[in-house]
Amino acid sequence: MKFFIDTGNLAQIKEANDLGILDGVTTNPTLMAKEGIKGTEAIANHYKSICEIVNGDVSAEVLSTDFTTIVEEGKKLAGIHPNIVVKVPMIKDGIKAIKWFTDNGIRTNCTLVFSVGQAILAAKAGASYVSPFIGRIDDCGWDGMDLIGQMRHIYDVQGYKTEILAASIRNALHIIKAAESGANVCTCPLDSILGLLKHPLTDIGLAKFLEDAKNM
Ligand code: G3P
Repeated sequence: MKFFIDTGNLAQIKEANDLGILDGVTTNPTLMAKEGIKGTEAIANHYKSICEIVNGDVSAEVLSTDFTTIVEEGKKLAGIHPNIVVKVPMIKDGIKAIKWFTDNGIRTNCTLVFSVGQAILAAKAGASYVSPFIGRIDDCGWDGMDLIGQMRHIYDVQGYKTEILAASIRNALHIIKAAESGANVCTCPLDSILGLLKHPLTDIGLAKFLEDAKNM
């Protein structure tokens, strides 16, 4: 499973990249706004900076909701850097635009996916990635991981090439379950990635080794 970091924060992207396990980055308008990025030029420059840190796919989301403008915006985003993947919402015009991007060699990430029906449409349109929002499904009382499992099964049976990108990841257990359920990619906040490191027996064991090392 590939590891993406879900943030627009350059320091966190650098920290995750320095671990040597980072395969890419996802952003969204909320994450970009959080970093105070405003205006077309600043947005493009920020994506450029992210692409200079990480050698992997970087999802940049369109802000339009109609076919023509999504295509225009997506073409500009894709022109920023070869690693940019155009993130498109799961709406009717979004699906139409994903098909257009697919036919024109522009890679896409279909976002805001909450059902298998939506996941089938995204794959049929040729999306490179599809992003089911696990945490937000959990928030509503369903198990988001069930969706990943169902999608994996359908994609395998049908031979769909779209990569399942588990998104809205909130903790380390989500990452483990996404791997278990067959997600191709998991996009995570830095804290959730670092959460995978934690085990009290590791800390106790290391303290003991370091103590005993004094007698070596
Ligand atoms: O990649 C989508 C993700 O950023 C949404 O996460 O925590 O806002 O549901 P969250």
